[in-house]
Amino acid sequence: MTPGLLAKLISGEGAALLASLPPYDEAESFVLGERLRREGFDPELVAAALTQSRLRARGERKFGRAARDLLFTPDGLEQATRRQVARLHARRLAGSGARVVHDLGCGIGADARAFADSGLRVAAVDADEVTACIADYNLRPWPHARAEHELAERVRLPGRREAPDAAVWLDPARRTPGVADITGRTRRTFRLDELVPAWDFVCAAGAQVAAAGVKLSPSLAHGQVPPGTQAQWTSYDGEVVECVLWWNAAAWDVGRSALVVSDQFAYEVLERDAEDAGSQTARLDRLHGYLYEADRAVIRAGLSGALVRRVDGVELDTGVGIVSSPRDVVVPWAKKYVVTDAMPFNLKALRSWTRDHRIGRLTIKKKGASVDPDGLRRQLRLKGSAEATILVTRIGGAQAVLMLVPAP
Ligand SMILES: C[S@@+](CC[C@H](N)C(=O)[O-])C[C@H]1O[C@@H](n2cnc3c(N)ncnc32)[C@H](O)[C@@H]1O
Repeated sequence: MTPGLLAKLISGEGAALLASLPPYDEAESFVLGERLRREGFDPELVAAALTQSRLRARGERKFGRAARDLLFTPDGLEQATRRQVARLHARRLAGSGARVVHDLGCGIGADARAFADSGLRVAAVDADEVTACIADYNLRPWPHARAEHELAERVRLPGRREAPDAAVWLDPARRTPGVADITGRTRRTFRLDELVPAWDFVCAAGAQVAAAGVKLSPSLAHGQVPPGTQAQWTSYDGEVVECVLWWNAAAWDVGRSALVVSDQFAYEVLERDAEDAGSQTARLDRLHGYLYEADRAVIRAGLSGALVRRVDGVELDTGVGIVSSPRDVVVPWAKKYVVTDAMPFNLKALRSWTRDHRIGRLTIKKKGASVDPDGLRRQLRLKGSAEATILVTRIGGAQAVLMLVPAP
């Protein structure tokens, strides 16, 4: 979309057209487009409005009903922080004493909206003219928040002493413009030296301003975390979505941490929670009654020791995040199972087990084991009406199978 077409879409005839569209229906979209063109609407405007309608429908996954009033670009929507997580970014910066946030590379403004909504003044910029204009549109409910077309590197950032209430937020693009992946989307990069704005600029900005947050890929290696920052791996509904580096006043607990988020809760697990967890691992012949599986953000942050401590158990293998314990404990950031049986991994023995228990439907989880769940399921030739869940994993250096029942 060109800036000119966007301007048409958000004013006069374009805005009325967009507001008049029915809820998006892929099957109806072609016919609707034809009808609107027949009625005399500019074909370019019709295409742009229908694209927004499609993106708004897709955007509801991240923004709920609010998506119906937002504008998007396809890349902007994909890179946007979901509402529940953006809210936590805002809470962290506001809780660090910030009153104004410089959002450098704001995309369509998902984080910026959360900052504005929590009362922070927002000065956002984006290098892409259309994206910046869309962010400004998406910020219109908050008069204290604006987005402009500008390069992050050209924004003058205040130092810590000069503006103790200032914060900077950076969510550098992890896409390579003009390079498509096999699905036709812009290729994603996981390398720090391919970020835009550049990694050196990002680190300098983070260190300079009184409070700072930088959103990065969750694949960030522990060795890449800059000293003095807090690295926070975040999961939403079990999927690890980001690693944020917090600097200065926003680094509440320097070191690694995990933030486990759902619609109902947000739990933080810190490095000190994992201290003195011991390095004992489990033995197949001495497995306890309960098995706890840490949330993936906790595992990415390298904090499965926190689970070992919390349930007073032993890990199946170092760093896998699965802990055996005799204790029945509530851990909101871990799944809990009762272990009903366990055996060394052996196809024949497993087939007999499924036959004896009349298992017709089998959920196969795997952790650190080299099995193909679909292939294994076929080889087991399941027959029966019962269901079961098994975990194929490594215990004491050998593959093992644990039979599990999810515990409340
Ligand atoms: C990952 S997106 C930001 C998403 C945003 N946090 C959100 O939740 O909607 C990164 C944005 O940075 C912008 N960008 C890349 N390099 C930039 C630069 N040097 N200055 C300003 N913006 C830049 C891109 O155009 C892109 O829109």
